[in-house]
Amino acid sequence: MKIFIAGATGAIGRPLIAQLLAKGYDVVALTRSTDRARTLAEQGIEPALADVFDKDAIKAAIKNAQPEIVIEQLTSLPKTYTGESMSAAGPLNRRLRLEGGANVLAAAQESGVRRYLRQSLAFWAVPGIGLADEEAPLSLDASPSVAADARTVNEIEYRLLKTPNLEGIALRYGFFYGLGTWFAPDGDVAQQVRQQQFPIVGNGEGVWSWIHVEDAALATVAAVERGNPGIYQITDDHPLEVREWLRAFARWLNAPPPPQILVEQALQMGGADAVYYGTQMRGASNAKAKRELNFQPRLLEWMVNTAVPGAS
Ligand SMILES: NC(=O)c1ccc[n+]([C@@H]2O[C@H](COP(=O)([O-])OP(=O)(O)OC[C@H]3O[C@@H](n4cnc5c(N)ncnc54)[C@H](OP(=O)(O)O)[C@@H]3O)[C@@H](O)[C@H]2O)c1
Repeated sequence: MKIFIAGATGAIGRPLIAQLLAKGYDVVALTRSTDRARTLAEQGIEPALADVFDKDAIKAAIKNAQPEIVIEQLTSLPKTYTGESMSAAGPLNRRLRLEGGANVLAAAQESGVRRYLRQSLAFWAVPGIGLADEEAPLSLDASPSVAADARTVNEIEYRLLKTPNLEGIALRYGFFYGLGTWFAPDGDVAQQVRQQQFPIVGNGEGVWSWIHVEDAALATVAAVERGNPGIYQITDDHPLEVREWLRAFARWLNAPPPPQILVEQALQMGGADAVYYGTQMRGASNAKAKRELNFQPRLLEWMVNTAVPGAS
């Protein structure tokens, strides 16, 4: 079976391709870069060259590949994870997901693709008690970047799920960690934590949901094979408050303990979005993915030697 991947060369695309090839799928990997296309070909992976903002080019690429399934993992995010870099990247990233994604989806539909899976995000349920499931309303009116991202998620998921004659699956991943991510030991957040530049905001009660990129790829393959049309939250079993994961992350890196700043300071330094991430973010439940995809995520890498409630 042939699978076309847009976003094939990024942090999730790389392990995803490896896992799909290991299971015997034919993979066509999209890139804008002739150098990356050459590297993919040298690895025995069929490349497709197109920019998803070019409607005709992406249409031709998918028509030429004739895949049965398309997986969209497009992002345009910086290698650094700071308030400034994320704010600067936000508009293009959202445009890529909205406009670029719409072009890929239209091209897939036109080519008679049966199943379409796309990247979404598990961070944007309205703040509340306990973990949010896939039905929870999103934070559409939160602080500026949060609201903009929540609206993007809302729109791309709605568009996909209402597309006729296509089995649409939105995979809401948690925060990626592992090779090539901000949270790898050589990643940007690790660097900031070593320099005590990544603080706990207020009481640090914001709850973050995590997923190793290899597990995200495993869940994606499972969704290719047996997912039902709809939304799945692909997160690990133990969403954690910032004060817990960040202190453990610093210990794991042999870094000094993270500093703690007041909400007022965070507002001045990073604005309302920084306060949302630090104190209000709500964790996501992975119960549906466990039930329907037999998903068994690993324990967060830097919590392995730390007691996590309910962990076996
Ligand atoms: N849930 C999460 O936590 C989450 C989700 C996504 C990313 N991130 C983080 O963001 C950081 C950067 O992610 P990354 O390394 O995956 O990004 P990346 O290397 O920039 O990969 C993005 C993918 O999108 C493709 N792409 C971007 N614009 C395109 C366009 N106009 N047309 C066609 N393809 C396009 C890229 O293809 P080419 O460049 O080859 O053309 C590449 O395959 C990492 O730290 C990652 O962990 C986090």
